[in-house]
Amino acid sequence: MKTLIVHYSLEGNTAWTSERIAQELGADTLRLIPKKAYPDKGFAKFFWGGKSAKMKESPELEPYSIDLNSYDRIILASPVWAGTFAPPLRTFIRSEKLAGKQFAFVMCSAGGSADKAFAGLAQLLGIAENVPTLHLIDPKSRPDAENDRKIKEFCQKLHA
Ligand SMILES: Cc1cc2nc3c(=O)[nH]c(=O)nc-3n(C[C@H](O)[C@H](O)[C@H](O)COP(=O)(O)O)c2cc1C
Repeated sequence: MKTLIVHYSLEGNTAWTSERIAQELGADTLRLIPKKAYPDKGFAKFFWGGKSAKMKESPELEPYSIDLNSYDRIILASPVWAGTFAPPLRTFIRSEKLAGKQFAFVMCSAGGSADKAFAGLAQLLGIAENVPTLHLIDPKSRPDAENDRKIKEFCQKLHA
């Protein structure tokens, strides 16, 4: 099964997780880059990113070249922003033909629940919510052996 991990990451935690999963599964990765970068410091970081997530924006992305037809499974990975997934994922989902793919979801948060973010992704894709999921708490900035165990367990589920 050929797998692509499509991720957005502002501060590196989701990118780190995506690369770990890619190693484990032998999968490819695609990092989504908004044309207008979100601020990554101070109050502006939470204000503009949080507002964009709440307003359900679809920010324009830098062009990427990838043949989605050659992948059977797409893993969507995002930080939790204001309780939901980050807007670049919405742009990707809306612009691509993803019918017939298998999915799995990955969320990084600072401690808040990822359930609403997972449900939001499933709703946007028009699929049932029972896809494999992985939720980690700031895995790059707060290293913890437990994260490695969770990543391996998630990948084993995908191998099965
Ligand atoms: C705009 C913004 C909103 C956030 N909202 C939440 C939230 O609602 N709940 C939470 O637990 N963490 C929240 N966070 C923290 C991030 O989800 C968390 O630090 C995550 O690991 C960052 O992933 P990244 O390094 O890939 O960007 C927020 C961070 C930002 C920048």
